[in-house]
Amino acid sequence: MADQQSNRDDAVKAWSGRFSEPVSALVMRYTASVFFDQRMAAQDIRGSLAHARMLARQGIIGDDDLADIERGLGQIREEIERGEFAWSLQDEDVHLNIEKRLTALIGDAGKRLHTGRSRNDQVATDIRLWLRDAIDQILALLVDYQRALLDLADTHAATPLPGFTHLQVAQPVTFGHHLMAYYEMSRRDAERFADCRKRVNRLPLGAAALAGTSYPIDREFVARELDFDGVCENSLDAVSDRDFGIEFCAAAALTMTHLSRFSEELILWMSPRVGFIDLADRFCTGSSIMPQKKNPDVPELVRGKTGRVNGSLISLLTLMKGQPLAYNKDNQEDKEPLFDTADTVIDTLRIYADMISGIRVKADAMRDALNQGFATATDLADYLVKKGLPFRDAHEVVARAVRAAEERGCDLPDLPLGDLRAFSELIDEDVYQVLTVEGALDSRNHIGGTAPAQVRAAIARARAALG
Ligand code: ARG
Repeated sequence: MADQQSNRDDAVKAWSGRFSEPVSALVMRYTASVFFDQRMAAQDIRGSLAHARMLARQGIIGDDDLADIERGLGQIREEIERGEFAWSLQDEDVHLNIEKRLTALIGDAGKRLHTGRSRNDQVATDIRLWLRDAIDQILALLVDYQRALLDLADTHAATPLPGFTHLQVAQPVTFGHHLMAYYEMSRRDAERFADCRKRVNRLPLGAAALAGTSYPIDREFVARELDFDGVCENSLDAVSDRDFGIEFCAAAALTMTHLSRFSEELILWMSPRVGFIDLADRFCTGSSIMPQKKNPDVPELVRGKTGRVNGSLISLLTLMKGQPLAYNKDNQEDKEPLFDTADTVIDTLRIYADMISGIRVKADAMRDALNQGFATATDLADYLVKKGLPFRDAHEVVARAVRAAEERGCDLPDLPLGDLRAFSELIDEDVYQVLTVEGALDSRNHIGGTAPAQVRAAIARARAALG
């Protein structure tokens, strides 16, 4: 690739006839996008082939031209795949680089390819094709992540874990139930990507520079060739708006936000102070100075990388907000945030599925933590309510019982019946069924509740949905 030192005299552009002086090397580098948009080369070639076939079908170019274009683009695709394509800064972007090479290979037919289109509708098509592929990859990876979650949740459908509010022990839940909360989030994430795909999957080509074209084109044919669900219905909108990319980033930001929350918990659970889980060594690193350390670097980086994905969303929103119709060069700045977002989400999901499969659960530590936080206090209150006490009075009775247990340094089920009865005559021997963790878990037996039977049912529904 030519670098910034390139000679000004070399700076001859595709539209140079209109200009009396070449751009400076700095401006050339500043305006070029080939460094990053060459990632869309496969999509650019695919779009060009569909366009050329349509042109030939409509009699706008000859069949011999089409044959040359197909041959030339085929060769270019191979050159790119083999890493032999000579990308040139002077040709600004992926589109002009490929077109120039095509013309060098096949002559005038290469120059006819751009009939009835503009780089404006071309780039919008490429980016949509690229994003569609990225979404399909993300959707498949989300399924892998979900399967890993479901497997672990299944194993721990009945493993008691303290449920927290305000990061204080609140009520018993099962570890499986806790994991299924992340499954639910991931399900909505997948829905969002699938929904965004519908709006990504429309063909801009045919909008040309902004107003459409005077050639007798067949946009529906091109849409079918490229597996689009339909065409963008307004040419000005087609070349200018990038809301589909913003939606993609929003879906990605939420996905990363969910994974960041999960990561925060993994980090906390792995802290020796908590010790609920251990992550497989391959997701951790040691310290260069403290030999005892095993740091959860991967979840910490997931939490950290969420920042750049959120940043991309803000970048694109800001990129769009001041643009008048139709195309403006600002839009060239959409690609790097989109690529970076897709790369980050794809790598994160890939790692996550594997990381979850490698979690070692320390069920004893989870149970010990549960026994220290009066986790069944609400169950005692509910017990009294079921025996006729108004809830506010029951709340007060239990508060006094908790204070007594605290003073004695024990948990509620450790208080003898006689002591409990001092707080309320309504308390009988059967109270111990609700004061135990298992009793508390089993009693929350409705859809969405933490009873192991409900957790297993939720897992079964999820598995059926995944197919
Ligand atoms: N590289 C440009 C982009 O990414 C392609 C479109 C250029 N169009 C133009 N009118 N300068 O948006």
